[in-house]
Amino acid sequence: MLSTNIKEATKEAHLNLEKQVIQKLKAIRSNADYADFLKYFYTYFSQVEKAIAPYITAELLPDYKERRNSSYIKNDILALGGHINDIPTVNLPEITNQLQALGALYVMEGSIMGGSIIVKMLEKGGITEGISFFSGYGEATGQKWGVFVGIMNAQASDDNEEAIAINAANETFSRFAEVFEDINVAS
Ligand code: HEM
Repeated sequence: MLSTNIKEATKEAHLNLEKQVIQKLKAIRSNADYADFLKYFYTYFSQVEKAIAPYITAELLPDYKERRNSSYIKNDILALGGHINDIPTVNLPEITNQLQALGALYVMEGSIMGGSIIVKMLEKGGITEGISFFSGYGEATGQKWGVFVGIMNAQASDDNEEAIAINAANETFSRFAEVFEDINVAS
């Protein structure tokens, strides 16, 4: 099943990204630092969202509009006193079909799972504002994830189709890691 294989095949890419995220998280000392950290997420998620939009239709994923998106990050940045005036254009994964779009969305929806850990780490450092994005769906997180995974699985009917989604997910992870390496979004 795609959900089992994609998790396994992206394990390493997840770990790499997680390391980078934690490194940046540990350096956060103030709301302004946290707003800068959120800019990496806004930069990437807002651009990936645009790339997948033509393929993630209401027919495919009926609750897509109710799902968390980069507007939450924008609201958090603004609530923290930051701005999004200087967002650079970054390299994106190749998204030219629905399976690739689902692979990319798998990464973005899955990031909610680490979100609660990020919120706890921030709290320990005294940061409690601007956490709507990382709070995800709260108690509904498991249910929302189940719905997404069910729809994703239904779109891949053989190994070739699974590979398309898996490659896109791996590329989505690695391009995001590049954003953390390459750009300086600090204002
Ligand atoms: C501090 C950073 C992070 C930590 C500690 C973390 C931790 C975790 C944990 C513990 C899970 C497993 C949850 C479960 O199975 O119940 C998970 C799943 C996942 N995370 Fe992360 N994560 C982090 C950042 C990210 C980021 C930035 C992304 C993507 C942009 C991401 C994407 C995913 C995905 C796609 C899954 C789902 C795996 C699956 O079940 O198929 N994570 N993460």
